[in-house]
Amino acid sequence: MGVEIAGIPLKNPVMTASGTFGYGDEFSSFFDLNALGAIIVKTVTMHPRPGNAPPRIAETPGGMLNSIGLQNVGIDLFLKQKLPFLRTLTTPLLVNIAGKSVEEFADLAKRLSDAEGVAGIEVNISCPNVAGGLDFGTDPRLTYEVVRSVRQATPLPVIPKLSPNVTDVTVIARAAADAGADALSLINTIVGMVIDLDSRRPKLPGATGGLSGPAIRPVAVRMVWEVAQVVKTPIIGIGGIMTGNDAVEFLLAGATAVQVGTANFLDPLAPMKVLAGIESYLTLHRFAAVTQLVGAAIPSETRSKSNVHSPRPKAK
Ligand SMILES: Cc1cc2nc3c(=O)[nH]c(=O)nc-3n(C[C@H](O)[C@H](O)[C@H](O)COP(=O)(O)O)c2cc1C
Repeated sequence: MGVEIAGIPLKNPVMTASGTFGYGDEFSSFFDLNALGAIIVKTVTMHPRPGNAPPRIAETPGGMLNSIGLQNVGIDLFLKQKLPFLRTLTTPLLVNIAGKSVEEFADLAKRLSDAEGVAGIEVNISCPNVAGGLDFGTDPRLTYEVVRSVRQATPLPVIPKLSPNVTDVTVIARAAADAGADALSLINTIVGMVIDLDSRRPKLPGATGGLSGPAIRPVAVRMVWEVAQVVKTPIIGIGGIMTGNDAVEFLLAGATAVQVGTANFLDPLAPMKVLAGIESYLTLHRFAAVTQLVGAAIPSETRSKSNVHSPRPKAK
């Protein structure tokens, strides 16, 4: 089940998605966190953020809309209060960061580089719920600038998290890869809206929010598939993964690893069930290694340009 992403060896390809798994310890009573491939914590910003006014979540068909507004304890308290527990785990920790400017992204990366126990940095250039947050990840030039400045600020692996709220995600993926990204996470939430029929007002105070859950999975799989064919950078697939089979779909589309997000709200054991489901798929279809699935659905003509290095396995 082992994979390598951004030079980090993982015991399996299942990670937790930022903002859906707290700082890890909230889930430690449910299962052994050392069984995860990697843990990604809630986005950390330079200063603590209280987040947006409630309600911050609305249910949607096959998913949920959220507008949390990057509530988090800030980098100082994260390093002092949250990191010591995470450091006790054998599971690699990826810290997700968001800055208000290119410089702030770089400063956050520097702070994390000096801290013991951080395996890599996921760069959130795609949060739709904060003014300015979306702009970096929807503009290839800004994407390049943020990723390059983080790249120059840290020796740690740099993993930009891309926005689906763009016309052509491959343009952004190329910009991030050119700037030195070690891997790419995709996708973040899709901007959506729900209107309450009684009040005749949007359900979320800020009108729009980020859509996640199974409803977005086909969009996410399509984007992984597109990006896998234009960059050689490894991909972490995210979007509506509820089961092992959902995860396998992302691997076949070209992802090397996956993240479980919204499913954690429904079932705190979801990442473990996804992991068991991938293992069952491998056994059932007689694959020796999970890496054999990576990009196996990509046509051989486009394989040379893709991030898929292993030969396409034959169906058994
Ligand atoms: C309540 C909630 C909070 C989230 N917070 C963050 C965040 O702080 N940083 C981030 O990069 N993504 C955040 N996300 C996006 C998820 O990490 C993930 O990219 C997205 O939800 C799609 O995956 P899913 O359908 O499995 O949830 C959040 C998602 C949800 C539902």
